[in-house]
Amino acid sequence: MTDKFHKDALKDFPEEITNYVETPCYLINSQIIENNCKILNEVQERTGAKILLALKAFALPKAFPIISKYLHGVCASGPIEAKLGYEYFRKEVHTFAPAYSEEDIIDVIKYSDHIIFNSLYMWKKHEPLIKQSEKKIELGLRVNPEHSEVEVLLYNPCAPGSRFGVRAKELEGVDLTGIDGLHFHALCEQNSDVFVRVLSSFENLFGKYIPKMKWVNFGGGHHITRKDYDIDLLCNTINDFRKRYNNIQVYLEPGEAVVLNSGVLVSTVLDIINNEIDIAILDTSAETHMPDVLAMPYTPNIIGAGKPGELPYTYRLGGISCLAGDVIGDYSFEKPLKRGDRLVFLDMALYSFVKNTTFNGIKLPSLIMYYPEKREIEVVRRFGYDDYRLKFMER
Ligand SMILES: Cc1ncc(COP(=O)(O)O)c(C=O)c1O
Repeated sequence: MTDKFHKDALKDFPEEITNYVETPCYLINSQIIENNCKILNEVQERTGAKILLALKAFALPKAFPIISKYLHGVCASGPIEAKLGYEYFRKEVHTFAPAYSEEDIIDVIKYSDHIIFNSLYMWKKHEPLIKQSEKKIELGLRVNPEHSEVEVLLYNPCAPGSRFGVRAKELEGVDLTGIDGLHFHALCEQNSDVFVRVLSSFENLFGKYIPKMKWVNFGGGHHITRKDYDIDLLCNTINDFRKRYNNIQVYLEPGEAVVLNSGVLVSTVLDIINNEIDIAILDTSAETHMPDVLAMPYTPNIIGAGKPGELPYTYRLGGISCLAGDVIGDYSFEKPLKRGDRLVFLDMALYSFVKNTTFNGIKLPSLIMYYPEKREIEVVRRFGYDDYRLKFMER
């Protein structure tokens, strides 16, 4: 019963903290991040694979000292993430973007030690400049393994017509001298059984090139820190792969798994209205603060709330923006909601504040670290008018 309404999360996000913090805020539990990293480290130790944090999911330098104790570096989606990783994570920086402009590649070279290309054209275009650099930079090619089991097209990097990765038929007869590694990314929140099938397709298509490579990057989407994840299967698969290819270096670059369940979005009920149904208006917004809720779409869990009708009092939770569809979902509660009540949305550390917008000038949620062992919180960043204004004008 407790679990059904997510009250088990109270041990990680106790009311004495969530009732105390300013709202809206993302409250990030440092201990959960560390526990996730320990699980990832177990995979590193059992396989020799190196794991990178995908900054696209979570880019909070305050938390990097915890993560960098265990992981080998970051993967970046372009020059700006690469710079953040270089300056604040201070380990390996692997950068992949679907294309690099001439301006972008200059910074990508400056801040990365691994650069991955999405096409043979991009590789050949930028290779001369990379060779001129004094840095030792390894080059990779993203390939399309032509197998994925991601049902939502928006999140399927291998869907028919995908723009990601060189297809095997394009590589026929191409001299890959100068390419150090192959990269694929075809998973999204998936278990290792899916990874096994993607890997087998990758090997069928690209196996003949692997012996010439120094490394292979198996991308992200491995939901390794989820309770039902089969870590043994992942480790056995990587070990078996490495054995077959002369101990080749393997990289994984998860984002979600690093910070899974480590953060909540705490919000306050500002008003309650009725239009045939009871509607609570919150000081947060699906559109600006939890974009995947509308994009996926999905209904995030709330501590102490059930599905509509499961508990006695059902409400539609609406956001504070002007968008008619800025609705987080319908939920039920044990008691009637009151103005001023706190609502705690679960699993909001990933792909949330990295994607936020200031649409409508809505205030971005504060970023707050929570250190359970010290029972302390630290406000990392508060936002306000300037964050809106500076999007449109010089300082
Ligand atoms: C190339 C690449 N690597 C890594 C990731 C991280 O994936 P996840 O956060 O699902 O583990 C993504 C996600 O889109 C990606 O596109």
